Amino acid sequence: MRQAGLIVAEVLERLRQKVQPGVTTRELNNMVEEIISKRGATPSFLHYRGYPASLCASVNEEVVHGIPSQRKLKEGDIVSLDVGACYQGYHGDASQTLAVGQISPETQRLLRVTSEALHLGLTEVRVGNHVGDISAAIQNHVEAAGYSVVRVLCGHGIGASMHEDPEIPNYATKQKGPRLEEGMVLAIEPMVNMGKSRVFTKEDQWTVVTADGSVSAHFEHTIAITPEGPQILTMA
Ligand code: MF3
Ligand code: CO
Repeated sequence: MRQAGLIVAEVLERLRQKVQPGVTTRELNNMVEEIISKRGATPSFLHYRGYPASLCASVNEEVVHGIPSQRKLKEGDIVSLDVGACYQGYHGDASQTLAVGQISPETQRLLRVTSEALHLGLTEVRVGNHVGDISAAIQNHVEAAGYSVVRVLCGHGIGASMHEDPEIPNYATKQKGPRLEEGMVLAIEPMVNMGKSRVFTKEDQWTVVTADGSVSAHFEHTIAITPEGPQILTMA
């Protein structure tokens, strides 16, 4: 899973270099496929429940699961780039939201707060804590900043399948959720809307967008609880 994670980290790094006004999300998808296959891995998303691409590219009010297309990114956009790779039967999954050229200070703040929320969630990953501790850390940070977390989509366990138990909500549940144990690997992924929490899925059956049209950010890492402690697998 460390190998899968490193491949995902490499892809995200290359995407950071490639994103600029004028590039299409399909070009980004093709680059993702190229790198993943060159590393002897397969894209986790391609054909997953019929998903038609290897990258999710979600622009502005799109939250997650945006399908790559001929759409050109333009100055001032933000784009969530979500990548999964499967190496020797095990998955890694991570996402980042990038600015395309110059973006407004308000949108910069959304990206910063969402990334901070992910890292605060990651800090709660240790033996003896509960899933709810991760969720609460994310929700508290996001709501203190005046934003909302998406509730209908969650992080997840990950391993030989991309989606495994437990679910990792981005809001605290009444019960504190399952206890975290050595050997668990989790994909933690706050989805944060500048406006209200409500989202819907477009007619393409995939693209999730905010109901109020506000912009949305998404960051994700895969983290393992190893005998030596927690290790972020999708970070070089
Ligand atoms: N990171 C997303 C997730 O954890 C990726 C799934 S996209 C899909 O759910 F197309 F593969 F569904
Ligand atoms: Co995920």
